[in-house]
Amino acid sequence: MTTNRLVRLRSRPVGMVRRDDFEIVDEPARDAGEGEFRVRIEYVSLDPAMRGWIAAGKSYVPPVEIGAVMRGFAAGHVDQSNHPDYKVGDAVAGLLGVQHYAVSKGERCFKVDPTKAPLERWIGGLGMPGQTAYFGLLEVGKPKPGETVVVSAASGAVGSIVGQIAKIVGCRAVGIAGGPEKCRYVVEELGFDACADYKGGNLAEELKAACPDGVDVYYENVGGEILDTVLPMMNLFGRIPVCGLISAYNATEPQPGPKNLRSILVNRLTMRGLIVFDFQDRMAEANEKLGQWHAEGRLRMREDVREGGIEAFPDVLNLLYTGGNFGKLVLKL
Ligand SMILES: NC(=O)c1ccc[n+]([C@@H]2O[C@H](COP(=O)([O-])OP(=O)(O)OC[C@H]3O[C@@H](n4cnc5c(N)ncnc54)[C@H](OP(=O)(O)O)[C@@H]3O)[C@@H](O)[C@H]2O)c1
Repeated sequence: MTTNRLVRLRSRPVGMVRRDDFEIVDEPARDAGEGEFRVRIEYVSLDPAMRGWIAAGKSYVPPVEIGAVMRGFAAGHVDQSNHPDYKVGDAVAGLLGVQHYAVSKGERCFKVDPTKAPLERWIGGLGMPGQTAYFGLLEVGKPKPGETVVVSAASGAVGSIVGQIAKIVGCRAVGIAGGPEKCRYVVEELGFDACADYKGGNLAEELKAACPDGVDVYYENVGGEILDTVLPMMNLFGRIPVCGLISAYNATEPQPGPKNLRSILVNRLTMRGLIVFDFQDRMAEANEKLGQWHAEGRLRMREDVREGGIEAFPDVLNLLYTGGNFGKLVLKL
């Protein structure tokens, strides 16, 4: 009998997640039923949104129920199949949960080609985070050649792709990241024009120097003080895709709103939230473009793969909220 080791939500965290908020359980792995296939998971994706998925209250998806398997993107190989489109040995990625074995009918799951990129990349730059960057920048940010695009969390899974796509479409790309090592990586390895270090104490000055013509698109991943610093630098009719607000995900008190709202009025800015699932019908388009740019060497991607098995899930997840990751954070099972 095959054993499935999995992570169940035990309680709703207050602040950063704690190991006690989850339980690690061994159960018999379910066999694939009619029209189903079973995946042996090798990599689990750690995504900032996981903190929101386990919080109570209204969101864009229902919260993970107490006692349920933790929701998460994952990648692995099919080990049983009664599904016409999936055969044993196929590599797949999708919303399969934080567990060793998942049974699926194929929803929110797609076949991937590990000869084109390592398996873990299909839950990173070639998966959900890459799709988010693609639609958030191009559909919501609507950058035009010659414009300046600023992105926060620039060395991370989404931000790194946003800046590189901005370059591909002819923009000036400026990142914001925490620390000199990440900033150097963003410029020297990802090819951004500049990167400002928000931990260096001079974010406003560094950004002004990096954006001599102001900011046309600010791709928001962080919120809080960083948003307040960028707002006054926005140009007339600038766009702010609000993709994430990670600085507040573990907050235990209501957070203050932006202080520089006046910039939205006087510059006639558009600020629009986006959730990648809004673009579900158009994933083939994003996957094709991301795959093409990756194959051409125009999109560089970095995964931060952590060992420690499924037991390490809560500790590894917390790395995202302190900048402890460097690239797309993934847990190897
Ligand atoms: N809307 C959607 O559909 C969607 C989908 C995917 C992701 N997202 C959002 O996109 C954002 C980035 O996600 P990701 O998966 O690409 O993660 P990531 O950037 O790979 O990792 C998170 C990064 O956020 C930065 N960070 C954490 N706390 C911060 C703080 N208090 N102030 C400033 N920066 C902080 C850290 O970078 P530094 O070391 O540089 O500080 C950290 O490495 C998140 O807000 C996430 O929720 C949204």
